[in-house]
Amino acid sequence: MNVKGSISGVDLFCGAGGLTYGLQQAGIDVRLGIDIDIASRHPIETNTRAKFIQADVSTLDPNVIRNAFGNSEIRLLAGCAPCQPFSTYSRASNSPLQSRHRLGRIENWRLVEKFADLVEAINPELVTMENVPPLAQQEVFEKLLGKLKSYWIDWQIVECQKIGLPQTRKRLVLLASRLGPIKFKKEEVKPKTVRDVIGGLSKISAGEVARKDPLHRSSRLSELNLLRIRASHPGGSWRDWPQELLSPCHKRPSGSTFPSVYGRMEWDTAAPTITTQSFGFGNGRFGHPEQDRAISLREAAMLQGFPEDYSFLPHSEPISFARIGRLIGNAVPVDLATWIGKTLVEHVNASLPDRSPAL
Ligand SMILES: C[S@@+](CC[C@H](N)C(=O)[O-])C[C@H]1O[C@@H](n2cnc3c(N)ncnc32)[C@H](O)[C@@H]1O
Repeated sequence: MNVKGSISGVDLFCGAGGLTYGLQQAGIDVRLGIDIDIASRHPIETNTRAKFIQADVSTLDPNVIRNAFGNSEIRLLAGCAPCQPFSTYSRASNSPLQSRHRLGRIENWRLVEKFADLVEAINPELVTMENVPPLAQQEVFEKLLGKLKSYWIDWQIVECQKIGLPQTRKRLVLLASRLGPIKFKKEEVKPKTVRDVIGGLSKISAGEVARKDPLHRSSRLSELNLLRIRASHPGGSWRDWPQELLSPCHKRPSGSTFPSVYGRMEWDTAAPTITTQSFGFGNGRFGHPEQDRAISLREAAMLQGFPEDYSFLPHSEPISFARIGRLIGNAVPVDLATWIGKTLVEHVNASLPDRSPAL
């Protein structure tokens, strides 16, 4: 029998383990993480107490999840199913004389549907799902809610800064429970700043690696980009640069639609959303507040809420910016995951009868 409030979890699409790690921080016994990407094995099995199985969730046998839960009384199925966009050609005009075709982007939410099917098959006591806010406008979200008819539900678009994350990131979070009405935990947290989180890390220059931490490394900058970052102000953009540093695309009127690329972060505010490309100065406002470089992989991870010693790959393996950047940028921020976990633990404690032994 479980002790009161004890929850066991399975994390589908576990990635680097932001969700698994944060749920465990809140006291949830996440036992298994599943992902198609083998790169998830090391971070899951090194930093968390969960086991890892490499599998394609779209063809996953629900018994894999049932076995992980064993006879746990309170089971949480958690997941962050990615959207799988693919490109397609569509007719730009009906006129036979204009048989032009246009490249379009179709968003495929098949994995969210699969998540809903697995919820139906397992019927866990608790469900949580994290995703991008536009999912709320998709038909598949309605379908998911339809499959959760026997659950109490709360969902919202969370501004992560409000729960303490030093990042202006918005995420859709869904909570569902068969135990009783569930509501997000109210959190009044002073938002952390970039300085609070990465202000204590050692100084490195562009292309350098810190002696004590191989992940505290920043990407190289070309001579031109070095001049550009030197001309960049915290919170500013390429618009602060002198004419000779601008590229032709900045000079085109369309360049004005990307004011926030090639910028520096500010010490005393939140960072922009950390993406899979946040190690590149030209990919967003990812310049360090005062050092002439983009943020390091470690800084990106810490701005996502990972602790400073979180290990993303074995020491023996070479570090790839693309691979680690993807794991970090795709993660559920740890602060968000911990807040979700605390909400679930409080909910379970409030819903279950007290089982402390009679004296
Ligand atoms: C948004 S990330 C999840 C992040 C993770 N929850 C975390 O907190 O670190 C989505 C993950 O889905 C995985 N994925 C994509 N397609 C998949 C599939 N068909 N089966 C299993 N995992 C898949 C990707 O490898 C990626 O790690």
